[in-house]
Amino acid sequence: MKLMEIYRLGVETGMAKDPRGRSGVEKELAKAKRAYEKLDETEKSFFDTDSLWNPYADSRLLVGDPEREVRRILVGVDIDAGEMMLTEALAQRGKPIDAVFAHHPQGRARARLCDVMYLQPGAMANYGVLKNISEALMDERAREVEISTGVSNYNRTADAAKLLDCALFCLHTPCDNMANAFVGELMEQEQPETLDDVCKLLRSIPEYASAARDGNPPSIVSGTPGRSAGKVFVDFTGGTGGPKEYARLLSDAGVSTVICMHMRQEALDMAREAKLNVVIAGHMPSDSIGINLVLDQLEARGVDIVPCSGLIRVSRLGRA
Ligand SMILES: [Fe+2]
Repeated sequence: MKLMEIYRLGVETGMAKDPRGRSGVEKELAKAKRAYEKLDETEKSFFDTDSLWNPYADSRLLVGDPEREVRRILVGVDIDAGEMMLTEALAQRGKPIDAVFAHHPQGRARARLCDVMYLQPGAMANYGVLKNISEALMDERAREVEISTGVSNYNRTADAAKLLDCALFCLHTPCDNMANAFVGELMEQEQPETLDDVCKLLRSIPEYASAARDGNPPSIVSGTPGRSAGKVFVDFTGGTGGPKEYARLLSDAGVSTVICMHMRQEALDMAREAKLNVVIAGHMPSDSIGINLVLDQLEARGVDIVPCSGLIRVSRLGRA
């Protein structure tokens, strides 16, 4: 596949499972288009035109000719200069890597991580949380994330990729959408009775089983094993953790249990106060599920996958 085809396929795969639905995604793209058209030529030169077709600011082709042919990719949750150097070592061992797929955003995609956070109010609206409240709360939290990513050395990995002439792209929210839908659909189908049932159901997924064997199983951090699971909200996508007040909003909207990849202490404190059940599914295995579902699309088209950096590779090709 060509590098650009991989990038586009990854984005489109994630769009199909966006919790806001197709119409929500189309609205995002239309908003970007309107914003672009209003700009003068100078302002247009600063505009990221990928956002006209890709609604995920945290997912970008960062380094490499879009027309480059890609046969083998190195894929990991976190990619830094160390993983980029691995491509050289692998080439020396007869395994040349054409491109690196990072899950967590790098380069300009990391600088704009805050933009995808507005997916969260859209996802919560499906559960009856009012957007005027959730969006207002998000403004402050998104700004906080924008400032911290702006301070970070966001181009470090991309700079290493350029020096090695190795293509680099990142797909974050598209993968997280896949994991979110996968676990959400499983909960919907199986309707676990208690929090213990939720954890056991998660552990039936190979990525979580693998993490459990590492001593990192899905874990109840608010609530007790025997407590009723009730209405379950899977909170895997939308960039990074939202405002701490979301625990209260979800609880007020009738959600009993939140399944997340990780949770900040201040948000967890709020959840406990609201008696909202929280199950931490695990960061690496949850990210792995989403990455794997995207990778299956690439593998089906003949791309050779080399997993690294925390990715628990499980192929679901050929499974119903
Ligand atoms: Fe992650």
